[in-house]
Amino acid sequence: MIEVRELTKRYAGRTVLDGISATFAKGEVVALVGPSGGGKSTLLRCLNGLESFDGGSVRVGGCALEPGRGRVHASQLWDIRRRVGFVFQQWYLFAHRTALGNVIEAPVHVKGQSAKEATERARELLAKVGMSHREGAYPAEMSGGEQQRVAIARALAMEPEALLMDEPTSALDPERVGDLVALLERLRDEGLTMVTVTHEMRFAQALASRVLVLHGGHIIEEGKPNDVLAHPQHERTRAFLGLGHAAAN
Ligand SMILES: Nc1ncnc2c1ncn2[C@@H]1O[C@H](COP(=O)(O)OP(=O)(O)OP(=O)(O)O)[C@@H](O)[C@H]1O
Ligand SMILES: [Mg+2]
Repeated sequence: MIEVRELTKRYAGRTVLDGISATFAKGEVVALVGPSGGGKSTLLRCLNGLESFDGGSVRVGGCALEPGRGRVHASQLWDIRRRVGFVFQQWYLFAHRTALGNVIEAPVHVKGQSAKEATERARELLAKVGMSHREGAYPAEMSGGEQQRVAIARALAMEPEALLMDEPTSALDPERVGDLVALLERLRDEGLTMVTVTHEMRFAQALASRVLVLHGGHIIEEGKPNDVLAHPQHERTRAFLGLGHAAAN
């Protein structure tokens, strides 16, 4: 469903993604883990055209993103963004809209759905994420975990084929992490492809079918969560997981 070939990304001449190749199959749930600064967020943003890149290619379904911002066709970008939803670390809900208003915004303004149709669907999605009782609340009136569930409902409102999430558990207490795992498990069982950056290994273990370890712009290790997280082969992964002596960066 998403295919990355030899992806290279530089910031001011500094290489932060160094020829990454990876395939994310339909229905697969992949966790991106690794030390801070390794390139996880950058890779995730390249997957739906939020970030331009310098070399290689990204394909989503039949759409291809090419290096360089100028060469990305706006229509292709829209197509990719429609297929691939993104949940940011800080959720970025529209502050002046209620939970319901946030979820209907894109279907009405981007997809051209009628307000009635979008509202019906939004109510189903808010029920799915356990937020029906708060549909009239503004973001400032919601807890972090509640805002995050609304952000997931908002991303799902565009009926994406894949959902990308950047550290979705970062502001959640352990109980809310459990709730999120249950929600994402349901989405996984419905066949949604998910790629999530996380620094919570239990979260990766509970949800992912595959773990990729990013370090210094390279995928240094990948495999099933139980293998990679319990028996890492790479010295840097061992250090990152606190299983060995810290290797030099
Ligand atoms: N806009 C930018 N301009 C310049 N350098 C950047 C920019 N964004 C990220 N970087 C650099 O790119 C590298 C990869 O950053 P990225 O945010 O992808 O890391 P990460 O793996 O998500 O880290 P973390 O776990 O801390 O979120 C880092 O060295 C970072 O400083
Ligand atoms: Mg990051």
